[in-house]
Amino acid sequence: MRIVFVAILFISSLFGAAGEAAPELNKKFHDSSRCKPCHAQIVKEWSGSYHAKSHFKNNEYLRKSMKYVGRKSRKSDNAVKVECATCHNPRIAVTEVGADYEIMSVMKLDKGSKVNKALESDELNEGINCLVCHNVKKVHSELDESKRGVRRLEWNKVGEMSGPYKNANSPYHKTHYRDFIGKDPKELCFVCHANDRSTENVIFTDMKKEYSETGKQCADCHMSPKKEGFASNLPIENSKPKKRMIREHGFVGAHQAWMWDGALHLNAKVKDKKLLVTLKNDNPHNIPSGFGARELIIDVEYQSGSKIIERKHLSLTRHYKDKRGKPTIPHLAKEMSKDMSIPANGSRTFSLPLVKGAGMIVVTLSYRLVNDEVHKLLGLKEPQWSEKKLIDRFNLRL
Ligand code: HEC
Ligand code: HEC
Ligand code: HEC
Ligand code: HEC
Ligand code: HEC
Repeated sequence: MRIVFVAILFISSLFGAAGEAAPELNKKFHDSSRCKPCHAQIVKEWSGSYHAKSHFKNNEYLRKSMKYVGRKSRKSDNAVKVECATCHNPRIAVTEVGADYEIMSVMKLDKGSKVNKALESDELNEGINCLVCHNVKKVHSELDESKRGVRRLEWNKVGEMSGPYKNANSPYHKTHYRDFIGKDPKELCFVCHANDRSTENVIFTDMKKEYSETGKQCADCHMSPKKEGFASNLPIENSKPKKRMIREHGFVGAHQAWMWDGALHLNAKVKDKKLLVTLKNDNPHNIPSGFGARELIIDVEYQSGSKIIERKHLSLTRHYKDKRGKPTIPHLAKEMSKDMSIPANGSRTFSLPLVKGAGMIVVTLSYRLVNDEVHKLLGLKEPQWSEKKLIDRFNLRL
């Protein structure tokens, strides 16, 4: 008994305080506006990113998904918000909601509760901000894969920043070099960009599992390659800002049309009286990847002279079914249709019919953030979710 007890103590001391809520911030380190005087460029870049929109107030798709999960799983809206905050808002002060809260919530006695206060805190409005990534002390990669987001994190004291430099010196805050930012930042990305599960324990997104090592970091493509610049505009070296190797903080991704330009390579040829369309992915993760209801679209126009004589359309996406076998959103999936994504560093070929009389075939590849099914289930209104973004085009003369 005693040995077991000592062993538990030892193990828990090894693993530190992973999964504990982040310490409450103070005025000096409240949000990104406090970093702006000395890191203006970084704050500007980050504020255009979807990390900055990962609070439900700032993202229609997220907000409506949360509501939908609450309605269908009979949890309170706030219980769902806390659950999703594990990755979307890891600075939240509570990480779990008990059955007692659910009862209070049904009886409308939850006002002023710890959970409600945590969710109303204006510390959360910025979603994944500077104080999420740079206040992390340790990423507990040794923990079970099912523990994601805040459950894998241990935090610095407020006012201590983890960064990529071994010799940083700031008059405003303490600094610590950390391997998960300086040496191998993908370790930080995988805290959240892995193992996203539905309420039925179906994993619908796992960038870590599909990742195929190429020597490139996530940060090389989604921030920028390292380049010369200033980490801080404060004059700290001979009355000038210090020159450093830095990265941009745009976290550009699926919402930025220009990121799609050439993201996949399109090729088409005729073989055995069929049109074969090949999509090649040179990136180290599947595309589409990330969030589950994304869609690749292949549009084919069969032309004769200047006339279009036929059109065909292929949708590469996933469909989800709930416990009752009805169409649903990824977060409630009990089952999902075949994976239609293009594998990391790989390719897939799709076969389409040829059309009699066609002298030219124009193939267009594009992308949408949300497929029609999920778009309709959630009643999304903003145009961005259904806009087509061009990836590549191919003309084939017959
Ligand atoms: C999603 C995580 C994430 C967020 C959010 C984030 N950073 Fe970073 N930051 C990084 C990573 C990763 C690096 C290191 C890149 C490298 O050197 O490989 C970095 C580097 C830095 C550096 C060193 C200079 C540079 O650009 O490489 C500073 C300073 C910095 N961040 C400040 C900020 C500030 C201020 C904010 C908020 C506006 C912020 N960061 C938001 C992940 C993040
Ligand atoms: C008064 C100016 C000032 C303010 C305000 C400030 N910083 Fe810094 N910060 C600096 C300086 C100076 C450095 C060192 C730059 C260098 O060595 O090139 C630095 C370095 C950093 C680094 C890199 C640390 C390392 O060890 O690699 C991070 C990350 C960082 N700051 C984040 C933040 C965040 C987040 C905020 C807002 C909460 C913030 N800073 C507010 C001046 C400031
Ligand atoms: C604390 C959890 C967390 C960490 C750490 C994190 N991310 Fe994210 N990231 C998210 C969430 C949640 C979103 C979706 C936000 C939204 O759209 O509401 C996101 C969105 C993105 C997007 C935008 C994707 C799109 O669809 O447009 C990119 C790119 C991205 N992250 C890259 C990174 C990289 C690179 C790192 C590591 C340096 C990283 N993230 C670290 C949680 C995280
Ligand atoms: C060689 C460049 C490259 C590397 C390295 C890379 N990506 Fe990507 N990533 C892309 C491209 C290109 C896309 C498709 C265009 C887009 O969504 O931005 C993409 C898409 C994404 C998306 C949005 C996917 C979607 O369908 O919603 C996320 C999230 C993302 N990447 C995160 C990561 C993370 C995390 C890593 C590291 C584990 C990483 N990427 C490494 C190039 C890269
Ligand atoms: C394991 C961490 C994790 C958890 C927990 C999580 N998410 Fe996410 N979520 C992500 C990441 C990472 C992305 C970005 C993926 C991408 O854009 O490709 C994301 C993206 C999304 C998006 C797409 C947003 C956009 O702008 O396109 C929606 C919607 C979403 N999540 C809903 C939810 C809901 C609802 C919950 C809670 C029931 C939840 N998420 C819980 C990690 C998580």
